[in-house]
Amino acid sequence: SADELKEYLATAIELAKEVGPAFKDGFWRKGRFSNTSDFAAEDKLGNEADCVTAVDRYIEKTIFARLRQIYPDHKLVGEESTAESGNGYVITDDPTWIVDPVDGTNNFVHHFPYTGISIGLAIGKEPVVGVIYLPILDELYTAARGLGAFVNDQKLPLIQSPALTSPTSLSQCALVSEHGSDRSLKTMQSRLGSFTRLLTDKQYGGGCLQNLRITGGACPDLTLVAKGSAELYWECGPHVWDFAAGVVILLESGGAVFDGAGWWGTDIPEDERVPKPLNIWNRKIVAVRYIPDLPGNPGSGRELQRQLVKELLEIVEDIDYTP
Ligand code: IPD
Repeated sequence: SADELKEYLATAIELAKEVGPAFKDGFWRKGRFSNTSDFAAEDKLGNEADCVTAVDRYIEKTIFARLRQIYPDHKLVGEESTAESGNGYVITDDPTWIVDPVDGTNNFVHHFPYTGISIGLAIGKEPVVGVIYLPILDELYTAARGLGAFVNDQKLPLIQSPALTSPTSLSQCALVSEHGSDRSLKTMQSRLGSFTRLLTDKQYGGGCLQNLRITGGACPDLTLVAKGSAELYWECGPHVWDFAAGVVILLESGGAVFDGAGWWGTDIPEDERVPKPLNIWNRKIVAVRYIPDLPGNPGSGRELQRQLVKELLEIVEDIDYTP
C-alpha cells in the first residue's frame, strides 16, 4: 500500500542520512577513516579498476544491521557482502533491500564527487523504493512507486518549461555511459567501438550524438537523466545494486528504462524491434529522460522516448553478461 511504501521510503532516507557523515569522512579521509591502512583501496578479484574500501564495508554493514532490526523478514542484497561471500545472491519475490554502500568507489578513491550511497527496495522483483544520496554534491534523491521523485525535496524532473526541447534523434541528445571496470581487450574494444559509432558524424554512418559524458557511476548517471541533464544512459555490465534505486527515481520522474534484452538481431523485422521493459537482474540498462508530449499530440513524449532508445540500440554493441 502507499502507506507501507511511504514507511519504507522514510527508512531508506533515514539510513542514507545516518551513514552520510562516514561517507564524507572517508571521502576526505578524516576522523575514523584517517588511517590510510583503514582506507586503502583493495582490488576485487585482482582487478585494480574494481575496488573496495573500508568505507564501503562499514556503510553496508551499518545499513544491513539496521534493516535486520527493523524488518527481520526482509531479504538483503548488497554489493560488498555478495563479493565477500562469493555465493552470488538469491532472488525471491520477498521484499528485498538492494544496497550499494558506495557506488562509484573508483571516484571515491580519487576524491571525484560523483559517488554516493544507493538504497533500493524490490517487492515481487519490482523496484518500488529508491534513495540515492550523493553526499559530496549534497544531493538526496528519493522516490517510491506512484509517489513521485524528488531531489532535496524538489520534484523531478527539474526542467518544467513547456518549451522543453523534445529531441527526435540522437544528434540532439546527451548520453551518460561508463567505460566500466571490465578491462579485457575484447570488452574495451566493444565499448569504445560503440562510443565511436555513437559520436561519429552521420555522413560517416554514425549516430552523431551531441555529447557523451562519463561520470564513473551508474547512480549519478541515473540521477542526471532523472533530473533532465542528459537524455540517455546506456550501460552493459552494472549489477542490480548499481541501479535498483536509480530506476525508481528515473521512472517516477517520467523517464523510462529498458532492458538490454531489447537488443535485436538484424533478422528481426523492423516493426517488431521493440525495447523490452527492464529486468533489474539483467546487467544491461538503457534509460531515457522524461519527454513532454508535443502540443496537441498525447502520447508523443513516450513515442519519442522509444524512438531514441531504438536509435541508440541500433548503434551500440551488446556485451553479454549472462552468467
Ligand atoms: C560502478 C558503477 C558503474 C560501472 C562500474 C562500477 P561500484 O559501481 O556503478 O556503473 O561502470 O564498473 O564499478 O562498483 O563502484 O559500486
